[in-house]
Amino acid sequence: MPQRIGVIGAGYVGLVTGACLASMGHQVTLRDIDEAKVRMIGDGEPPIHEDGLKQLMHECRDRLRATLDLAEMLEASEIVFIAVDTPPTHSGDADLSRVMTVLDELEQIGATGEHVLVMKSTVPVGTGERVRAELDKRGLESIGYCSNPEFLKEGVAIADFLSPDRVVIGDFRAADGDKVAALYEPLGAPILRTSVPTAEMIKYASNAFLATKISFINEIANVCEEVGADVIEVAEGMGLDARIGPKFLSAGVGFGGSCFPKDVSALKQLAGNSGYHFQLLTSVIEVNELQKRRVVGKLKRHLGDLEGKEIALLGLAFKPGTDDMREASSVVLAARLLAEAASVRAYDPVALEAARHTVRGVEFFDDPWACVTGADAVVLVTEWPEIIGLDWPKVAQVMRGDVLVDGRNALDPADAVAAGFAYEGIGRVAPS
Ligand code: UDX
Repeated sequence: MPQRIGVIGAGYVGLVTGACLASMGHQVTLRDIDEAKVRMIGDGEPPIHEDGLKQLMHECRDRLRATLDLAEMLEASEIVFIAVDTPPTHSGDADLSRVMTVLDELEQIGATGEHVLVMKSTVPVGTGERVRAELDKRGLESIGYCSNPEFLKEGVAIADFLSPDRVVIGDFRAADGDKVAALYEPLGAPILRTSVPTAEMIKYASNAFLATKISFINEIANVCEEVGADVIEVAEGMGLDARIGPKFLSAGVGFGGSCFPKDVSALKQLAGNSGYHFQLLTSVIEVNELQKRRVVGKLKRHLGDLEGKEIALLGLAFKPGTDDMREASSVVLAARLLAEAASVRAYDPVALEAARHTVRGVEFFDDPWACVTGADAVVLVTEWPEIIGLDWPKVAQVMRGDVLVDGRNALDPADAVAAGFAYEGIGRVAPS
């Protein structure tokens, strides 16, 4: 049965959630405090780059609208998703001020009735209990609260929402959880019902485990380089063990994005605050930081001192399919190369605009050929299809030098060597 849904925060998670729920037949009202965003959504323009989102917004435009007015959104909805930012504070804890502002607003407008708040944002374990207590303190006892963490991957977020591996719902009152579960039932995925702190923990534990898998395979790759093994085959051989699984075993220049770095640190912090030193996560973070920097060592091995060397970075976004530059490995890599007095140029098919605001001192190109021409070394940082599909023998010809660091193991080493490159992958030995 179609429900009346509200979404507070029309950012990445909120917009995808809203559009997907509208596509399932529900009436969705998004609320954001950013006037420009609200206007763009009203015009059918997604304020973020996400594959298929514009099309989906267009298809369900009659059931998806945006407003600046919280009261208006509440009026139009029963189940209200909260998808506001929870950035880390200086202490590494999550900043919940935006969540608390929503509670203040609910109190001010005297919200009552059947509303169920559903926390989509990733929040520290214990937040739900805090919010519940705040709601009760403000006389908002009738408002329900559930935790329903998102597991969306940027670039494939719509598919992830509509075909999830699982849906996790934590509640204080079963009736509230039932309402949220009913929304997801048509998707046919397993729905796990838990307490609120457990649901909150599932999100952190899942992301921390995936990040651990990546740091693990990156360290295996580093050892492979020393002993002459090939990490891609090692990962394949490991992944065939059903207990391990093949996913998230791609070695590279480290993980980035809006979730993994933030969530791994937040879980480490959370453990620390309760007196537990989460040793493993400390290493996961450190390995990831070192992994971003290892490219510099590889370049130096071939070029010696990097001062004045022309280094071309192909791909800047933290992964393909997005313009998101948050915690992208390219940012650290570019800064390190600049600190070595190298001259850094960069190309990205989508993230150039976002990158200009994030990385200083780099020369940006909107054409990959202009970027690589005359370069001493090329580093493949983000495995965009348009970068992998370049005519690599031609790249070798237009460069000044011959060094190619394939930071995502996206190219065939034998082909690269045949094209004339001095090829360096991550955890692979190029044929000589
Ligand atoms: C992640 C989680 O997958 C998602 O469930 C959560 O809700 C948000 O965080 P996302 O940040 O969009 O999603 O990207 P993801 O595809 O998971 O990749 C994260 C980072 O890890 C990227 O920088 C990617 O390049 C890197 N990565 C991923 C690897 O280096 N190796 C891998 O095998 C997989």
